[in-house]
Amino acid sequence: VDSQSLDVDVVIIGAGASGLTAATRLTADGHSVAVLEARERVGGRLWTDTIDGALLELGGQWVSPDQTALIETLDELGLETYSRYREGDSVYVNAAGDLTRFTGELFPVAAETQQEMERLIAMLDELTAEIGPTEPWAHPRAAELDAVSWNEWLEQQTDDVEARDNIALFIAEAMLTKPSHAFSALQAILMAASAGSFSHLVDADYILDKRVAGGLQQVPIKLAEALGDAVHLGAPVRRLAWSDEGVTAYADGVTVTARRAVVAVPPNLYTRIAFEPPLPRRQQQMHQHVSLGLVIKVHAVYETPFWREAGLSGTAFSPYQLVHEAYDNTNHGDPRGTLVGFVSDLKADAMFALPSEERKRRILESLAAYYGPQALEPVVYYESDWGSEEWTRGAYAASFDLGGLSRYGADQRTPVGPIFWSCSDVAAEGYQHVDGAIRMGRLTAEEIAATLA
Ligand code: FDA
Repeated sequence: VDSQSLDVDVVIIGAGASGLTAATRLTADGHSVAVLEARERVGGRLWTDTIDGALLELGGQWVSPDQTALIETLDELGLETYSRYREGDSVYVNAAGDLTRFTGELFPVAAETQQEMERLIAMLDELTAEIGPTEPWAHPRAAELDAVSWNEWLEQQTDDVEARDNIALFIAEAMLTKPSHAFSALQAILMAASAGSFSHLVDADYILDKRVAGGLQQVPIKLAEALGDAVHLGAPVRRLAWSDEGVTAYADGVTVTARRAVVAVPPNLYTRIAFEPPLPRRQQQMHQHVSLGLVIKVHAVYETPFWREAGLSGTAFSPYQLVHEAYDNTNHGDPRGTLVGFVSDLKADAMFALPSEERKRRILESLAAYYGPQALEPVVYYESDWGSEEWTRGAYAASFDLGGLSRYGADQRTPVGPIFWSCSDVAAEGYQHVDGAIRMGRLTAEEIAATLA
């Protein structure tokens, strides 16, 4: 097989939003780049595909007002956004299975539970503002908050189980997609701080505000188009030789020598690359303490958005349902109606243990608990299964195990010789989101440009 040899200023490993942003910025700054992408497509965790005639966003899709780096990029690329449908009532299902319609952010729970939720949200907003997203590990309370799980921390604050289950959901099922006992209170606070406040995560109309016409994968697609021949698909990097002089990246079909490297893949995949010499002890240790969560993103397309006629917005929540949250995900200008729902962590494990037909039935029954029996009969049904994707292995993004953030956080972006790290998983603002991927790409490009000057 012919193998191509290239020599550039910077080799970028991974053509996700982060790697492509770094490549774009470095190119604009006059540096030559080569982007090596394992898959036969760009975008990584952003992927729009047509499934049985329905255009579906299989990965990341929503844009919120705090995500200013993403919004700037959308403007630069001339991409249009539209609002998620949100007219009418949302629905909440309690532990007993009772459905209640509601409007606004706060779930319709008993007055005392509501008060407890408001108290916890205010407390978390305060802690989040104090600790911030940039260096949570440097806060005087970091070690203490990192030694206790999110679940345990909530148990220490309130005896109200329903308040606890609901507050836990905003971080556990809905964001880190890990059980609430599997990550720390400090990690939860970083998640909230990265989105501006805990209140923002409670407000679905804020955090899931806008979508991009044609899908959010347009961002990496357009960035890659502008980079042209510099982007190499089907080129997984297997080996990265490095020294103070520079690097050589060995990918399938192409070898690139460069002065600097950007590893723009999620941290759970770093070990897929054989570093020569091996990375220092600190990195080898740290990379074992960070992992992706697991969530099934379920797409159900119907002839019409039938829930709208019933006065429902499509927004649904319950920590007690298999599908813990669901939304109207109808594409702009589409006469058909689409619902999107999410099944996280232990519930996702349980579903994947079932044959696919039974899994589908169970998941649709959960949608029917929110929207009625019409939800049982979609014309298109699809489950995004990122856990099976070799070059991702989970969703949405990475987080540390208990105690890992305070122990290692300060070093997650520290370069190793000529090697720099860039992805949404190591972001401050926009952590776990496309916005964070773009912010890290920009920052990494700036840092590298400074060393090449
Ligand atoms: P990303 O993982 O996208 O890119 C890494 C790239 O590196 C991939 O293309 C991969 O193939 C490649 N790669 C890996 N190993 C390699 C190797 N050895 N050699 C070469 N290439 C290699 N965000 C948001 O803002 N709003 C949302 O609504 C959502 N929702 C959402 C839903 C689902 C189901 C998922 C999976 C994710 C989201 N997200 C999201 C998160 C968001 O999609 C994610 O944070 C960013 O797209 C990550 O971009 P990065 O460039 O950091 O990594």
